[in-house]
Amino acid sequence: MRLPYGGDAWLVTRYSDARIVLADPRFSRAATLGADIPRMLPDPDYAPAILTMDPPAHTRIRRLVAGAFSARQVAALRPMIEAHADDLIDRMLAAGPPADLVAGFGKPLAMAVICDVLGVPPGDQERFRGWSTTAVTAQTVAPAELEAALANLSGYLTELVAARRRHPTDDVLGQLVAARDDGEQLSEEELVFLGVTLLVAGHETSEKAIADAMFVLLQRPQQVERLRADPGLLPTAVEELLRYLPLETAGGAFSRVVTEELELGGVRLEAGDVVFVRLSVANRDPRTFAEPDRLDLTRARNPHLAFGHGIHLCLGSYLGRTELQVSLDRLLDRLPRLRLAVDPAEVQWRTDGFVRGPVRLPVTW
Ligand code: HEM
Repeated sequence: MRLPYGGDAWLVTRYSDARIVLADPRFSRAATLGADIPRMLPDPDYAPAILTMDPPAHTRIRRLVAGAFSARQVAALRPMIEAHADDLIDRMLAAGPPADLVAGFGKPLAMAVICDVLGVPPGDQERFRGWSTTAVTAQTVAPAELEAALANLSGYLTELVAARRRHPTDDVLGQLVAARDDGEQLSEEELVFLGVTLLVAGHETSEKAIADAMFVLLQRPQQVERLRADPGLLPTAVEELLRYLPLETAGGAFSRVVTEELELGGVRLEAGDVVFVRLSVANRDPRTFAEPDRLDLTRARNPHLAFGHGIHLCLGSYLGRTELQVSLDRLLDRLPRLRLAVDPAEVQWRTDGFVRGPVRLPVTW
């Protein structure tokens, strides 16, 4: 395919090929940094993020944060996530219908959860929300605006890090500061940028996934009734929604550079070639998923790629799925008559971030 900048790249859509590109070290993320390669944005990517690292740097950084986002740690966070969800539903009930599930539920829930995990004061949201939105809508903002937003976010995280040096904490940011200061396991720049990545990736993705899932579910009342009748089905249902939803946007795919000549899916790739993977298409590959275009909330075998695969598999995959499980559980349980308040065709979509999501999702009950 032809990209807006830097020429032609390969687009990988077959499930088996997608898994190879995401897991084989001959497809490098680090080689995309600062390189004049096929890309969506005018400027090459310079952000020294965990997602733009190869081993051993990636292994070193990932090890520092993996524990905080493990299945066990996230299971312990569930009551906190439920409390935030219930609080937001209380407010919706108090205000009465209709409500917007984006502004009134998905957005504030995802933000409250990641702030809690990182130890970011929720009261600071007004300061960093705009910068964060700019950072993920890089395709539609001027390069200078993007640079300023990233600089502001880094400045903000630098302040939070300094505060933790004065008063140590045991939240994720506090743990990272301790790792930095005790044996220098990461540089100051890596520390600050990891904080920025976690803050931005931690809410922009989940808030949209929650709204996307509700948009799809609320159009299928029979499936909703089935979920209500059997809440034990929720984890399976959430995996199916993650497979089924087209979450990524055109600019929301992270390219890889081929490091040596190889063959993929019968095509010869040269060193230096650039490859994009379309996760949402791979997730509907009929060679892997029977009846891929059918939403089957009971689908038992579901090795979807919504969180990626290989060493960059989403760090927040347990957190993201738990936020989805809790959201569906609480909304369906507490609002038995919940339904869309508009024709689905009227819902407008944001496609300028990494994850696609409704601008507003009007509901009533
Ligand atoms: C449903 C919500 C989410 C979805 C669909 C999602 C999706 C993804 C995908 C597809 C990747 C891999 C990209 C690639 O390899 O090209 C990824 C990586 C990542 N995600 Fe998520 N994500 C979600 C929630 C979160 C949350 C809540 C966090 C907060 C911690 C997070 C943090 C990250 C990080 C740090 C990486 C990079 C990991 C690495 O390079 O080792 N994500 N995410």
